[in-house]
Amino acid sequence: LSSTELSETLLGWYDIHARSMPWRIGPADRATGVTPDPYRIWMSEVMLQQTTVAAVKEYFTRFTTRWPTVTDLATAEDADVMAEWAGLGYYARARNLLKCARVVAFELGGQFPDTLDGLLALPGVGPYTAAAIASIAFDRSEAVLDGNVERVMSRLFNIHDPLPGVKPVLKDKAASLTPALRPGDYAQAVMDLGATICTPKSPACGICPWVAPCAARAEGTAAELPKKTPK
Ligand code: ADE
Repeated sequence: LSSTELSETLLGWYDIHARSMPWRIGPADRATGVTPDPYRIWMSEVMLQQTTVAAVKEYFTRFTTRWPTVTDLATAEDADVMAEWAGLGYYARARNLLKCARVVAFELGGQFPDTLDGLLALPGVGPYTAAAIASIAFDRSEAVLDGNVERVMSRLFNIHDPLPGVKPVLKDKAASLTPALRPGDYAQAVMDLGATICTPKSPACGICPWVAPCAARAEGTAAELPKKTPK
């Protein structure tokens, strides 16, 4: 199957099965080319760096209700933001969240950068978060690589070389499949596939939209992948 056929198959699945999350926009809006607010995407991706989707949902809603724009957050008291963050852990993220909000609000005119390099220059924004914001909020064809994507790529291409060494290969695979159209939906579709179907222990290959092209499935090795270098 071509890269285009693979991404289109997954996007068709996502149109039906996308998980509902408070920072996502609905299929009707997506179909008209509307992109979500970069502030909300940045906030969600920073929270999701070390915390599960289930735990992030209510924090995200509380933060964006209390501080609906990046300028609202930038002018908040440090202590109020830290108190609202309580329970999410990894408090350096909250400090960087405020630092970043202040850079965007006071040095960048309230607009998030719309390029990968511009995003990477922000406090608390690494390669994963920059690619997620660029693709989801700005429709840029940047490949997102997190644990879910690594697992899905290693299986789809039946790659047995261990992590972390094989990461660049998986990144290449992820990049080669990332489409020019709807890259943000595609990124989130791979994450949803990894979280709900292509799970670590017992992948639900029977209902997977990529079962036919999956090389690991053909060999019966899906559940063993990705391999990890022993500690
Ligand atoms: N994990 C991190 N970002 C995500 C997103 N946008 N959708 C689903 N899972 C995620």
